[in-house]
Amino acid sequence: MSVKRVGIVGSGIMGSGIAETAAVHGFEVVLRSRSQSSADGMVAGMEKSLNRQVEKEKIAAADAEAALARVTPTSDLGELAGCDLVVESVVEDLGVKQHLFNELDRICGEHTILATNTSTLPVVEMAMVTGRPTQVCGIHFFNPAPVMSLVELVRTITTSDDTLESARAFAAACGKEPVEVKDQAGFVVNALLFPYLNNAVRLLEQGVASMEDIDTAMKGGCGFPMGPFALLDLVGLDTSLAILDALYAEYRDPNYAAVPLLRRMVAAEQLGRKSGTGFYDYHKK
Ligand SMILES: NC(=O)c1ccc[n+]([C@@H]2O[C@H](COP(=O)([O-])OP(=O)(O)OC[C@H]3O[C@@H](n4cnc5c(N)ncnc54)[C@H](O)[C@@H]3O)[C@@H](O)[C@H]2O)c1
Repeated sequence: MSVKRVGIVGSGIMGSGIAETAAVHGFEVVLRSRSQSSADGMVAGMEKSLNRQVEKEKIAAADAEAALARVTPTSDLGELAGCDLVVESVVEDLGVKQHLFNELDRICGEHTILATNTSTLPVVEMAMVTGRPTQVCGIHFFNPAPVMSLVELVRTITTSDDTLESARAFAAACGKEPVEVKDQAGFVVNALLFPYLNNAVRLLEQGVASMEDIDTAMKGGCGFPMGPFALLDLVGLDTSLAILDALYAEYRDPNYAAVPLLRRMVAAEQLGRKSGTGFYDYHKK
């Protein structure tokens, strides 16, 4: 099935980035947020992001304008009815995602593929609340979606070959390099990445080094583009905690048991860049 019209649900860090990526690569995009003002805000944010790319001569002004013109912001889930593919990117909470999949199944056309951008949750449990479990898969983008080249394509035990091939074609048409992964918590990247991030917080708690020095060490010693605390702030501490909790629930591996400091920071609403404060302070930046 050839995908032309894509629905994106969720107006956070990832929903915005995926919408921008799809629009730039020629897809018609219906962007659904719970309020019209946040849907409009997403388009305004996309315009800013595209303007920055025009200034840096990464994209032509006419192409940026055309990409924006392909995006329809809405608060009405019903507007996703005509989409060939819907990618949900709402909060990392299985109950919320299942409720959404159930609604999308009711609203969307019979041919529509329903995909999740979940980082860790069991995709098959979203598939099974729909009447189309063969047409459900994971399409897991990385942050920031317009920049990162990887997409993990999650095949559940119910996903059909046709669905996965359509998802693969969509990811490739977005300029991404897809890899196929099993529906297992964390897939490849987060299963490997999150013990590292969690243990960085543990080292900080133990007073082994300052947060700045741990970041400097991992950049200088491993050649990583950013240290673990800068990365946790970019991902979002609430999302990171939800990812660790899902990994721990699946594997019971102590490396996935969230370090208390992370949980306390989420309770204090210190969520990273998106809230202005996390391990670092972003208010002045
Ligand atoms: N942040 C990352 O680095 C990253 C990377 C890859 C995948 N993901 C995944 O993408 C998804 C979204 O993460 P994000 O980082 O964009 O989070 P975010 O906090 O920036 O955005 C979450 C979105 O969910 C919406 N939302 C919250 N509660 C809701 C509810 N009850 N019903 C409907 N919508 C609700 C919010 O309004 C917001 O638009 C998650 O599944 C996450 O695991 C995140």
